[in-house]
Amino acid sequence: MGFPKDFMWGGATAANQCEGAYNIGGKGLSTADVMTSSYNGEPREITNNIEDEKHYPSHHGVKHYLHYEEDIKLFAEMGFECYRMSIAWTRIFPNGDETIPNEKGLEFYDKVFDTCLKHNIEPIVTLSHFETPLGLQKYGSWTNRKVVDFFMNYCDVLFRRYEKKVKYWITFNEINVMSTKPWMAGGVESNDEQTRMTAAYHQFLASAKAVQLAHQINDNNQVGMMYNGHIAYPASPDPLDVERTTQFMQQMLFYSDVQCRGYYPNYKLKEFERNGVELPIKENDLEILKEGTVDFISFSYYLSHVVGEGTPLTFVGLNGVKTGYKNPNLATSEWGWSIDPNGLRYILNLLYDRYQLPLMIVENGLGAVDKVEKDGTIRDSYRIEYLKKHLLELEKAIDIDGVPVIAYAMWGPFDIISASTGEMKKRYGFIYIDVDDYGDGSYKRLKKDSFYWYQKVIESNGEYLKKE
Ligand code: BG6
Repeated sequence: MGFPKDFMWGGATAANQCEGAYNIGGKGLSTADVMTSSYNGEPREITNNIEDEKHYPSHHGVKHYLHYEEDIKLFAEMGFECYRMSIAWTRIFPNGDETIPNEKGLEFYDKVFDTCLKHNIEPIVTLSHFETPLGLQKYGSWTNRKVVDFFMNYCDVLFRRYEKKVKYWITFNEINVMSTKPWMAGGVESNDEQTRMTAAYHQFLASAKAVQLAHQINDNNQVGMMYNGHIAYPASPDPLDVERTTQFMQQMLFYSDVQCRGYYPNYKLKEFERNGVELPIKENDLEILKEGTVDFISFSYYLSHVVGEGTPLTFVGLNGVKTGYKNPNLATSEWGWSIDPNGLRYILNLLYDRYQLPLMIVENGLGAVDKVEKDGTIRDSYRIEYLKKHLLELEKAIDIDGVPVIAYAMWGPFDIISASTGEMKKRYGFIYIDVDDYGDGSYKRLKKDSFYWYQKVIESNGEYLKKE
């Protein structure tokens, strides 16, 4: 009963949102490094000139590059058993297209993994989390098949170098974001469907090849896909609203369909036919997709949508806040994201029923403004409440519905830069970091109330959730 004995508790981050040191140790520029902050609810600006007066939050992050030992030690104090993190491709290949890797970048991640392993924390590593080398722009980034080869070279280097340290790999963070924010998903600026679908096609191919390569190098390697877990409910029992909801979900799920089943679903192929979208399929590609299906599914879950006739078919606005109708049954976060713990059980069942693959929750959490009291405490009861409700639903999915879940990695265990807005004040962490939206502050780490709470949850393997 309850959480399985070998269930892994932990947290998750992304290199460009926490490391900083954007030009240190031989690192090249990535697509994330040319994105400004946005403080007004509008999308972040992509610029070509980082010398201007604008603020580029990835340049400082929360200085995890310098503080990684302290940060991982704090994870260990909470009892973490896994840490989902990403490697910045540009630390290894500064422009993306080199053949020889940058040793300094490799050494940095050696140190990070060694620190994790010293504390018995299993690294779960994302190969590409919203940052593509800027040097690949000259090829058209993921719209060009050459990038698949560059990516494979990167994978080959990582799988061999970290063979003894890393077993769980995730290919592309929230690959379905290609439908809405192609710059973040793959360094693609143009929003037309042909371009986005060409880029996604190359990522599918790269992911399938990465799965095969990882298995060839070591049988123990497990490679997963990563899905931005948007779910939608129909606005009413009107069959048209229900139909619209199915269509909305298909727009999201087609990515996991390809990566888990190994082929494009008919509904998508028909849509391509209607819209004149052509996939750049070459000989053997379809076999590669078929043979490179993933070992597990990882996903993020933050919110749910309500859709009906006339609402958009993909998520829009800051992670979907403008996607559909407001759900009158749900409260929202300070950033307008609906808070829907039941949705977590729903999506776990949906994904397992559809693919029968093990699942990892690699992102879930509440972005909120935190206040440091005079005595240095941070009373984030709202975060505890959010996480507790979601974890209780997760337990039901495991216990009552029999969904095999390997891990829960809460998003942003120490405060990091927000991906959608570039803000710092949107905080998720158990650990507060003293830095403001402009990068000013001491960068000192402070434990929030939720730190001690999560510690008890992990220590009791979830039993503590039922105590209060
Ligand atoms: C996910 C991303 O979409 O949501 C993360 O994978 C991101 O990179 C997270 O940080 C939370 O979104 P935000 O915009 O609040 O940082």
